[in-house]
Amino acid sequence: MKILSVVGARPQFIKASTVSRRLKDERFRGLSEAIVHTGQHYDDAMSGAFFRELEIPEPRWNLAVGSGPHGAQTGRMMERLEGVASDYKPDVILVYGYTNSTLAGALVAAKSGVTLAHVEAGLRSFRRAMPEEINRAVTDRVSDTLFCPTQQAIDNLKAEGRTKGVHLVGDVMYDAFLHAAKRCTPEIVERFGLEPGRYVLATIHRAENTDQRERLATLFDALSHVATTTPVLLPIHPRTAVLLSDAGIGPKHNLKLVDPVPHAELLSLIMYAAVVATDSGGMQKEAYLAGVPCVTLRDETEWTETLAGGWNRLPRMDAAGIVEAISAASGMSRSVRPPPVFGDGNAAAAILEVLAGRR
Ligand code: UD1
Repeated sequence: MKILSVVGARPQFIKASTVSRRLKDERFRGLSEAIVHTGQHYDDAMSGAFFRELEIPEPRWNLAVGSGPHGAQTGRMMERLEGVASDYKPDVILVYGYTNSTLAGALVAAKSGVTLAHVEAGLRSFRRAMPEEINRAVTDRVSDTLFCPTQQAIDNLKAEGRTKGVHLVGDVMYDAFLHAAKRCTPEIVERFGLEPGRYVLATIHRAENTDQRERLATLFDALSHVATTTPVLLPIHPRTAVLLSDAGIGPKHNLKLVDPVPHAELLSLIMYAAVVATDSGGMQKEAYLAGVPCVTLRDETEWTETLAGGWNRLPRMDAAGIVEAISAASGMSRSVRPPPVFGDGNAAAAILEVLAGRR
């Protein structure tokens, strides 16, 4: 069976690495994989560094689409992916998550009659204005096989009338977490001039937070306020860096902006943080898995299970609300661990078992 894995953005490299690694097992010898990189992320720190660190096989194709408006970016991907699919003739196209690369892979598979499998299916924020929500809803609609990370995802699909081809496999991010956790150390934290347990780790990149100057300024006001008492480290996504500079917003107090960091370093920074404050989906889960309280800098989350017990919180999205939520999260007792909701860390193997027709 020939699998064509479509990736393009940073979180997809992390997710896809778990499947590529598992494919080396003797039991999956009947399956072969070729990777196509759409080129949505292209900076070395956002792309090449992840392929090296996670030992992902070299993509057979790099479509080099680069940045651009959604329609143009997705259209360029589709045009080039169609050529790849027609040359390679895969049995299955495998897509991950909810980016424009996911959508392009899904539409090309559906229109060329290739079986489509979606990893991280069934997630919903129920906010149509999010590009990610449109991408994942359309992808799920045209997928033949839907790999759900949680029971909530299964329930979301059921509410849309979808039960056929749906599999609860757990979250590949848990597989990735367990793999990288072996390399996590507090030394990395010290290299950033921080003390374990005494800093907030923040990231901001979602369009809903970066594209309106006022919202971006509110977030930076809140984080700068937190940084008057607790250091805040913010590895900055290139889109946020550009928009901050366009908006003339600069970090204040002990709010430190650094370049994007490799996955194992980021996990170390999560593990030893007092609080994680983020709009990333992956980091909400990684904080949960590490037993570190998280404040999600959004109005809603797809990962509603993480809200139980206060491990994740949705603040009132003004500066005072964000500061209050970070302060409340930092006061949480760490003597208990969050309950397991992301499976058993063997999601990649479960996905391959299904594709091999054994489950
Ligand atoms: C995409 C996903 C988002 C995901 C995120 C992870 C979509 C619609 N959004 O957002 O869901 O959470 O990836 O990072 O697919 N840029 C660079 N270098 C890069 C990549 C991006 O400078 O290597 C800058 C460019 O200015 C570009 C902007 O970031 O225009 C946006 O990049 P894009 O890939 O379109 O989307 P993301 O914001 O990364």
